[in-house]
Amino acid sequence: MTMFRAFRIHNDEAGYRAGIEAMSTDALSPGEVLVKTAYSSVNYKDALAGTGKGRILRTYPLNGGIDVAGHVIASTDPAFKEGDAVLCTGSGLSETRDGGYSEYARLDARWTIPLPAGLSLRESMILGTAGFTAALALLRMQDNRQTPSLGPIAVTGASGGVGQLAIDIFSRAGYEVHAISGKTDHFDVLRELGASECIDRHQLVFSGKPMDSARFGGALDNVGGSMLSGLLPLISPYGNVAICGNAGGVAFDSTVMPFIIRGASLLGIASAGTARDIRDSVWQHLASDWKPRHLERIATREVTLDGLPGIFASMLAGDSSGRTLVRIDNTV
Ligand SMILES: NC(=O)c1ccc[n+]([C@@H]2O[C@H](COP(=O)([O-])OP(=O)(O)OC[C@H]3O[C@@H](n4cnc5c(N)ncnc54)[C@H](OP(=O)(O)O)[C@@H]3O)[C@@H](O)[C@H]2O)c1
Repeated sequence: MTMFRAFRIHNDEAGYRAGIEAMSTDALSPGEVLVKTAYSSVNYKDALAGTGKGRILRTYPLNGGIDVAGHVIASTDPAFKEGDAVLCTGSGLSETRDGGYSEYARLDARWTIPLPAGLSLRESMILGTAGFTAALALLRMQDNRQTPSLGPIAVTGASGGVGQLAIDIFSRAGYEVHAISGKTDHFDVLRELGASECIDRHQLVFSGKPMDSARFGGALDNVGGSMLSGLLPLISPYGNVAICGNAGGVAFDSTVMPFIIRGASLLGIASAGTARDIRDSVWQHLASDWKPRHLERIATREVTLDGLPGIFASMLAGDSSGRTLVRIDNTV
């Protein structure tokens, strides 16, 4: 039994609270693969879970953190051996089992991914759920016949973690990317990452017509709400809109017209529950042909477990940009 530090979330008669605690490996959720955590990351969902602003955990208490990467300490599954570098994203972490904001994590072997050649542990967590989500969106769009020739891809919430990684990934995969962001002071960075146009979301006026001139071949939408409503009439024939997030709202209005006249498709992106074969394929792409070229530029912040509450607050206020890496083991 080893004692270690973890950022643990409780919700009981004493109320919702989260903070750093000492715990033992015996107390971790069951699983086959015990990992010494090197890095985790901060996603919007982590900020909701860590503050209680959103109902993410389905059981309490749990360690927060939907992403984890580190080295195997011990495994009862022969597929993994001591010293292997592994990662895990979603898959119940910080929802139904202890997550990655912890010096040790015990993982379910079915969802433990051997670190693919071409990625370091650090890079895998700059990507984390955000990069996995952006690449899953591209995979699903291409499965539904998205090609660069359909026109530019609109990326909304472009300065955020998913947004910046999506700009880099889609441009690397050969797409023209138009970034839609509320942060005009970030436009230079978004261009450096690969956006050929940057659009100020506060200046964006949608006509409100059921159909409008086609402007985008497709979209990756992190915002939802009126942004999604406004984008749908602008999608080219047979283009795809990958619905990734709800940073701006959950409800959206549409007519059937973009779907029955232009053949547009809405694709739901649910990274946490992705099947294992698709997961493997997405990580292989992220380590090779879709590997973002500007990962270190996108990693805007690095914190330890102690720095998490400050990051959650700025993320929920919409102030953050890029990705926040959580360094848990100072020796790697
Ligand atoms: N489906 C999945 O599996 C999955 C996986 C990961 C994340 N997500 C979701 O995807 C979204 C982005 O996640 P993230 O980790 O990239 O978060 P993030 O880093 O906080 O980025 C969110 C971005 O959305 C924009 N935004 C924030 N508040 C807004 C508002 N009120 N109206 C319009 N835009 C607003 C901001 O970008 P600008 O200032 O540039 O406009 C912000 O940077 C979140 O909703 C998250 O829950 C979903």
